[in-house]
Amino acid sequence: MHEIIKPINLKFAVEKLIAGELVAFPTETVYGLGGNAFENSVVEKIFAYKNRPKKNPLPICYKDFETAACDVFICESAKKLAEKFLPGPLTLLLKRKPDSKISEIACAELETICVRIPSHPIAQKILSMIDFPLAVPSANKSTKISPTSAQLVSENLYEINDLTIIDGGQCNIGIESTIVDLTGEQPKILRQGAISEQEIFEKCGMRFEKISSPAFKHYVMQKKIVANATKAEKNDALLAFGKPFDNCCRHFLNLSESGDLNEAAANFFSMLQELDKTDAEKICIMSIPNMEIGISINDRIKKAIENN
Ligand code: TXA
Ligand code: MG
Repeated sequence: MHEIIKPINLKFAVEKLIAGELVAFPTETVYGLGGNAFENSVVEKIFAYKNRPKKNPLPICYKDFETAACDVFICESAKKLAEKFLPGPLTLLLKRKPDSKISEIACAELETICVRIPSHPIAQKILSMIDFPLAVPSANKSTKISPTSAQLVSENLYEINDLTIIDGGQCNIGIESTIVDLTGEQPKILRQGAISEQEIFEKCGMRFEKISSPAFKHYVMQKKIVANATKAEKNDALLAFGKPFDNCCRHFLNLSESGDLNEAAANFFSMLQELDKTDAEKICIMSIPNMEIGISINDRIKKAIENN
């Protein structure tokens, strides 16, 4: 069984990490599965627990940007972005320093490192209590939806016996961090996420090259998904946004009755998973405005449909 602990017991979790074990904990975006990023054997456990392809590198969490600078070269763009957005839900892909001690297995033998500085107080506290960075992918089985609560982590990783999960309630943001690749001539967005391109442009004046789509499967669901739904049948599940259209569905949830995109993002993964567990024939999702974090919600819906 999983040991779900309260955040007052962080020392217990930190001892596990120091002993080379894995701990799942909340970040401001989604729950992560963390382990010592310097240790090959620990990192291998992360890949195994998640059933993640070894070619898919793990992001590395640091307590602050200064600490990350031990492992990566910091370019001017990185400095600018860090000043405006870190700690927070913006992950930076940077060139690895030759003397970095980060496990090469964690980085899939690449010469880059995905640097994440989470702002969540529990993640921050853990990182400040250890003297090594953590490899922290989302705490779900590979291809599945990212968990936004301790309960969802436990359901997702139910096969793993010896896992400690820190219950820090529901994640505020609910969608993964935005990933910016600063290793090439032009900055690129590798993954749309919690921070929109528009917000980065407004704060840093930075524009990005065309988005390259990741090669790995994500957000695989049991049920068929219909996007931009304007009707739903009795046997369907309806995931509404704002005022719902008349429906007679047995299963119904609303992402945000008031039409608030941030509220919708925070509810999105958990509601989708809840409806996926019902006996509905398909899940009909109402149209989500393609702006701000709505862009990232729509990106996840598109991927769930593509991988269905
Ligand atoms: O919000 C988040 O970023 C969450 C929370 C837990 O921090 N983490 C998360 O991790 O979403 P994960 O592993 O599910 O997604 C990280 C993405 C993966 O798509 C991976 O391919 C990419 O980052 N990535 C990591 N290291 C990379 C590298 N060196 N080069 C290119 N992509 C990399
Ligand atoms: Mg993930």
